[in-house]
Amino acid sequence: MKALRVHAWGEPPRVEELPDPAPSPGRSIVRMHAATVGHIDRTIWSGAFLRHPPLPYIPGVEGAGVVVHSERFAAGQRVWLRGAGLGTVRNGTWCELVDAPDHALGALPEQVPMALGSAFFSPSTSAWVALHDVGQVREGQRVLVTGATGAVGSLVLQLARDAGAQVRAVYFDEEQRSRLPAHFDAVSADALAPEADLLLDTVGGDALPAALRGVAPGGRAVLVGYAGGTETRLDLPELLQRDIALLPLNMFRREASGRAAAPALLERLAQGRLQLEVTEFPFEQAGAALEWITRRGHRGRAVLVL
Ligand SMILES: NC(=O)c1ccc[n+]([C@@H]2O[C@H](COP(=O)([O-])OP(=O)(O)OC[C@H]3O[C@@H](n4cnc5c(N)ncnc54)[C@H](OP(=O)(O)O)[C@@H]3O)[C@@H](O)[C@H]2O)c1
Repeated sequence: MKALRVHAWGEPPRVEELPDPAPSPGRSIVRMHAATVGHIDRTIWSGAFLRHPPLPYIPGVEGAGVVVHSERFAAGQRVWLRGAGLGTVRNGTWCELVDAPDHALGALPEQVPMALGSAFFSPSTSAWVALHDVGQVREGQRVLVTGATGAVGSLVLQLARDAGAQVRAVYFDEEQRSRLPAHFDAVSADALAPEADLLLDTVGGDALPAALRGVAPGGRAVLVGYAGGTETRLDLPELLQRDIALLPLNMFRREASGRAAAPALLERLAQGRLQLEVTEFPFEQAGAALEWITRRGHRGRAVLVL
């Protein structure tokens, strides 16, 4: 089979010919149609993640394809793949045939295209868990979202509105404002008043203290990501006086909640009640996709098609 393998941290993956996997108990073999290139893949690939597979390794924490052999699913079943150490402690999805633990697979409805089935899990379940499990959002609450032009942020916007919240996207310049999802209220970071019950921040860096100015005393902020910077400065006296709870999201620890939410989120995507943009790259262009996801202004998820 054809696979993309990384031989040294941060080096472009190479296309290689490897032996096909053989069936074994408790494991499924899936012919991949699509494999996502996300921020987590990039962090692992750079060697900066807490854990990573031994080199050389096949990256990819998510993907979608068709079952070739499995004790759990019939051959021919369309599936999504995620978890069970795929791409984090063992070889991942950037290959023609994945040999995955059975529990990494979930059924993919016919209406959901392979590329979307590959990409949906991380952004949609992260948005759901951040909003409901960590943020404890309630109907009527005032919610702010940063990074709403991004994959996770745009889904937080949609899910917060579905939950009956009064949601607003926080933008940092007019150019970013012009790319926000249509039909949502938006507010400039410079114009924030401390009135929101809940902030969901996917940007981090300097955006976090700026967005925290929009949270009311006693409010909460869910720290989802750091697309705009891994370090920040916080005014601790102000934070303590305003009594704002900073709540980190860690989807590896909350994988079970994400998996529980996945079927209903897939159903909404299948019905068009949730939107997630996907940009396809040829399999051989994984290096270009790894670069593309770091560019400001890119939209949606990058997916390698096989
Ligand atoms: N904690 C977890 O378990 C977990 C789970 C999933 C994702 N994440 C993290 O969440 C973050 C967002 O993921 P994503 O897939 O939504 O990423 P994405 O699609 O690349 O979106 C990134 C967002 O951040 C904005 N942004 C980047 N730099 C900025 C800056 N300097 N100032 C203002 N806005 C800036 C982008 O705006 P533009 O469109 O203007 O560039 C975009 O809206 C990533 O850090 C990811 O690793 C964490």
